[in-house]
Amino acid sequence: METRTPLDTVPATAQETVQRSRTVDRVVRGIATSDGAGVKLTRVLTQNLQRRLDPFLMLDAFGTDSKDDYIGGFPDHPHRGFETITYMLAGRMRHRDSAGNEGLLQNGGAQWMVAGAGVVHSEMPEQEDGRMEGFQLWLNLPAADKMTAPWYRDMPAEAIPTVALDNGGTVRVLAGASHGVAGAVTRPVTEPVYLDVHLPAGQQFRQALPAGHNAFVYVYRGELSIGEGSEKAVVDAQRMGVLDNADKADGVIVNAESDVRFLLIAGQPLGEPIAQYGPFVMNTQEQIYQTLADFRDGRFATIAASTGG
Ligand code: FE2
Repeated sequence: METRTPLDTVPATAQETVQRSRTVDRVVRGIATSDGAGVKLTRVLTQNLQRRLDPFLMLDAFGTDSKDDYIGGFPDHPHRGFETITYMLAGRMRHRDSAGNEGLLQNGGAQWMVAGAGVVHSEMPEQEDGRMEGFQLWLNLPAADKMTAPWYRDMPAEAIPTVALDNGGTVRVLAGASHGVAGAVTRPVTEPVYLDVHLPAGQQFRQALPAGHNAFVYVYRGELSIGEGSEKAVVDAQRMGVLDNADKADGVIVNAESDVRFLLIAGQPLGEPIAQYGPFVMNTQEQIYQTLADFRDGRFATIAASTGG
C-alpha cells in the first residue's frame, strides 16, 4: 500500500464550469535519461516541445525504490533565466544554494525557485533507502525578468491547499486556482496553473483554463481519458497528453478510466526566442555567452549573495 502524509482538505468554494473540453493533441512517452550525479529520471517534456508548450521548458519525472537510482543527487550546479518547481511525492531532498539558503524538501512538499540572474545550488537525497518520487518542472521567465533577483520558497505539504471534491477526488493546488481555491503560488505574466489531481475510477474532473494557455496532463498512476466519441483519447500512466488549443474550448474534462493521479499544468505562452545551453535559458546566443562568462568568473554566487535571503 502506498502511504501519504494525511492532509487537511478544504471544501470547494466554486464549481468549475466547462462548456467545451480541449482534446488530446498527442500522447508523449518520455525519454529515460540521467542527470546530476547519475540520478535516473524520465524527461517527459523535452527540448523539441518547448515551442509547443511555451512557457514550459522541461518536465522530469523520477520514481524509484532503488537507492542507486538517486543516491548521487544533484551536486552544485548553476541556473539562470527561468524558474524551477520541484514537487516531491515521496522522499527527502536537502537543498542548499550559493546565497546560504537551505531547506528540506519532502513528502508532498514543493520548492518554487526563481533562478533569475543566477543561482548555484545542490539538491541531495537525505535518505539512504526507500522510495524517491517526484517531478521537476522548468518554467520560463519573460525576457524582461530573466535577470531578476533570485528567490525561492519552500512549501511543506500543509502549505499546498488540497481541495476535497464531491466525487471523492482531491486537487492539490500548487499554482493558479481550482474550484474557487487559490494555489500556494501565483506568478505574473505566465500565470501558471499546476494541479495534482487524484480521482476515483469512473469519476470526472473539470477545470476551466484560459483559451490562450498551453496545457498538458501527465499521468503518474492509473489511466484517464479526455474527449468523447471519435475524439476520445486515453492517456496511460507515465504518459503526457498535450492538450489542443481549440478556440472554443474553455477548459478540460478528464474521465478517470481507473483510480488515477495526474498533474494538470497550463501557462500563458511568452512567444519569445528561446536560447538554451544546459541549465541556462536566455533569449539570444550572445546572452548565453555572457552567462557562461559570468558563471566562469564566479559572478553567480555574488549575484545570489547580494540579493538572496
Ligand atoms: Fe537545479
